[in-house]
Amino acid sequence: MNNFNFIAPFYDRLARIVFGRSIENATYHFLSEIQEDSAVLILGGGTGKILSSIPKCEKVTYLEKSEKMINRAKTHKVDMDMEFINKDFLAFDAKHSYDFIICPFFLDCFNEKNLDEVINQIDGLIKTDGKLLVTDFQATRKQLLIRLMHLFFRIFASLESKKLKNIHRFILQNRFEIEKEEFFHKNMIFSRVYRNL
Ligand SMILES: C[S@@+](CC[C@H](N)C(=O)[O-])C[C@H]1O[C@@H](n2cnc3c(N)ncnc32)[C@H](O)[C@@H]1O
Repeated sequence: MNNFNFIAPFYDRLARIVFGRSIENATYHFLSEIQEDSAVLILGGGTGKILSSIPKCEKVTYLEKSEKMINRAKTHKVDMDMEFINKDFLAFDAKHSYDFIICPFFLDCFNEKNLDEVINQIDGLIKTDGKLLVTDFQATRKQLLIRLMHLFFRIFASLESKKLKNIHRFILQNRFEIEKEEFFHKNMIFSRVYRNL
């Protein structure tokens, strides 16, 4: 499940065609919240475009399940202490905790059961006073574009998630509270910073 290897070579182009710059604008919007002394964990970062917009910080850990995606990410030259981990997050046995965890269009990949598990795992990895940055699609039945895209990924990336979920609600139920939010692309996309409770 969740195998993005096949679409890795054209993922970024596809996202740009469908959503213009909104995906990037939303993903980068709150990155300035990262502090210089932060240990950052990026989950499901894809081809690594996000790396060029991460402010200087102590260390970046980049965890990505798709080998093809992570190989592309490794080609980005960044002047930071970087660690790449090619692994399923659900099998990730972290040795550290993090000040800032980033989920860019990652949480929507999971079914409801695993989404709870993923958020729980994030909760265990985040330091006291740590922040969680989530950028993803808003679940609404009316938005045909998002539903079509979800269907596309179900077919071409074996997406385990069978329907759009209210990710925000799942996060609030798992010991996080919202700190900042912004909406993009006619409110189809949200970016939110959460504080751990
Ligand atoms: C929808 S793509 C988003 C890619 C990138 N963050 C972006 O916004 O362009 C989801 C990414 O999450 C990765 N992914 C999905 N399930 C995963 C898992 N269980 N563990 C780690 N990465 C996973 C996929 O390989 C894919 O690169």
